[in-house]
Amino acid sequence: MTEGLSLRISTKDDIEIIHSIYQSEIGSSWTYDDFDKKRTDTHHRIYSICINEACIGFIILQVILPEADLLNIAIHKDFQSKGYGTEVLKNITDLMKRSGVQKIFLEVRAQSAAVCFYERNGFKKIDTRKKYYNNIEDAIIMQYLV
Ligand SMILES: CC(C)(COP(=O)(O)OP(=O)(O)OC[C@H]1O[C@@H](n2cnc3c(N)ncnc32)[C@H](O)[C@@H]1OP(=O)(O)O)[C@@H](O)C(=O)NCCC(=O)NCCS
Repeated sequence: MTEGLSLRISTKDDIEIIHSIYQSEIGSSWTYDDFDKKRTDTHHRIYSICINEACIGFIILQVILPEADLLNIAIHKDFQSKGYGTEVLKNITDLMKRSGVQKIFLEVRAQSAAVCFYERNGFKKIDTRKKYYNNIEDAIIMQYLV
C-alpha cells in the first residue's frame, strides 16, 4: 500500500469520525449506535482507513461465509480520487479470500459515481432492482468473485 496508508479494525474511538464521514459522504440513516453495534457484532467487520494512523475513511462488510456483503465504503472528501479506495478494495478482497469468502455482493444507487469505481475494481453488475430507492432510483446489484 501507499506509504502511510493502512487498514485497521475500527476501535470505539474511531466510530465518531467514521459516523461523521458517513454523514457527509453517504447519508444519514445509520446512527452512531448502528456503527457501534456493528463494530462488536460477529457478522460485521468495520475497518478504518488510515493515513499515518489518522482515520480518513472506513469500509464495512457483513460476512456470512462463504459470502460477504460490502455495505459501505467512504473516504473523506479531502482524500478522494488519490487511489486510496482502489488500494483498500484490493486489500479487502485479499483479506476476504484468506477468511474463506468466495463471493462479495454490494448494492449501489444506479446514478452513483461509485458504480464505475466498483467496475474498475472487478465487480460485475448482476441485477437491477427497479425504483428501489424512494420508489424512484434503481439499485444495481454487483458481485465480485474472490
Ligand atoms: C467511492 C470512494 C470510496 C472511492 O475512493 P477513492 O479513494 O476516491 O477512489 P480511487 O481514487 O481509488 O478511485 C477514484 C474513482 O472513484 C470514483 N469516485 C471519486 N469520487 C467519488 C465520489 N465522491 N463518489 C463516488 N465515487 C467517486 C470515481 O470513479 C473515481 O474515478 P476518477 O478519479 O477517474 O474520477 C470515495 O470516492 C468515496 O468515499 N465516495 C463517496 C461515498 C461513496 O460514494 N461510497 C460508495 C457508495 S456507498
